[in-house]
Amino acid sequence: MNLVNQLIISFIQLLPKPLVKRFAIRYIAGEKLDDAVRVVRTLNSRNMMGTMDVLGENVTTREESLSAVRACEQVLHSIHENHLNANLSIKLTQFGLKIDGEFCHSHVKRLLEIASRYNNFMRIDMEDSSTTSETLKLYERLCSEGFENVGIVIQANMRRSEEDIRRLIPVKANIRLCTGAYIEPETIAFKSKEEIRRNFLKLLKKLLEGKSYVGIATHDDFLISGAYQYIQEMNLDKTDYEFQMLHGVRTKLRDKIVADRHRLRVYVPFGQHWYAYSLRRFKENPQIVRYVLQALFSGN
Ligand code: FDA
Repeated sequence: MNLVNQLIISFIQLLPKPLVKRFAIRYIAGEKLDDAVRVVRTLNSRNMMGTMDVLGENVTTREESLSAVRACEQVLHSIHENHLNANLSIKLTQFGLKIDGEFCHSHVKRLLEIASRYNNFMRIDMEDSSTTSETLKLYERLCSEGFENVGIVIQANMRRSEEDIRRLIPVKANIRLCTGAYIEPETIAFKSKEEIRRNFLKLLKKLLEGKSYVGIATHDDFLISGAYQYIQEMNLDKTDYEFQMLHGVRTKLRDKIVADRHRLRVYVPFGQHWYAYSLRRFKENPQIVRYVLQALFSGN
């Protein structure tokens, strides 16, 4: 992390909570499920799909995990009751991955059963590298148990990702490909933008050629135009992939992708844990802080 980013993060942490909320609010639907439902309904009316995320991660007690499970169950019921075109994204450390793997597995399984009753889908987000192997192991276990309504995330900044997709392609895994939001050591992760972009496009090509369904999750024009090129060259059907973007980021680009007749899904986080989430995001990806500050001072 460079000095300017370190200073920005220290500055953010000194600010009072209501002020930090001004920074965070752009990226979060609100604190309540109703807020997320409203955002997804608007997205749907604009021909965009949603994926809802109950904010929270790295919980330290079973009680917190159980409360997250209940909140996610509510999301699945609500998507169904409101006829929303949306699915659910979860983080395994929110369900106690670091407390007890079996406990976590049983709750994810329960949510998948509810999702499949509604013919819906659940994506397991990828967190920092301390959880990658366990996350993939749990995902592969769920696949071997017969769940077809579950997907995973691969991060292009991770050196291991090429090896990981070699295992995932034969099982036709449903994969969200992103660049990776967590700061990782150089020994295990690519650090330069060029290397990460190169790896993203390399992995994307392999996944699309291997007939995996890919959620192409980026706001980077360079990567999006690379994806457009593959889609054209491989003559892919619109149902073979989707683009994915975060709530509050590059809305004009979102509109353009939809106008270009591609499917697009927006990641819609909500919940009471917005403060901790925002601070963690700022720490993990200081670039985001720069965007927030730019937005603040430009009044956008
Ligand atoms: P990049 O950061 O280069 O952004 C390209 C351009 O987009 C910037 O120049 C800027 O204009 C704009 N931009 C990007 N972020 C912005 C912001 N916050 N505010 C304003 N403008 C912004 N990561 C992970 O490790 N695990 C995961 O499970 C997920 N899940 C996920 C889901 C979805 C739907 C998306 C889109 C992303 C993720 N990510 C993620 C995050 C991802 O790894 C990455 O950190 C961000 O997408 C930023 O990288 P980009 O590829 O968008 O490029």
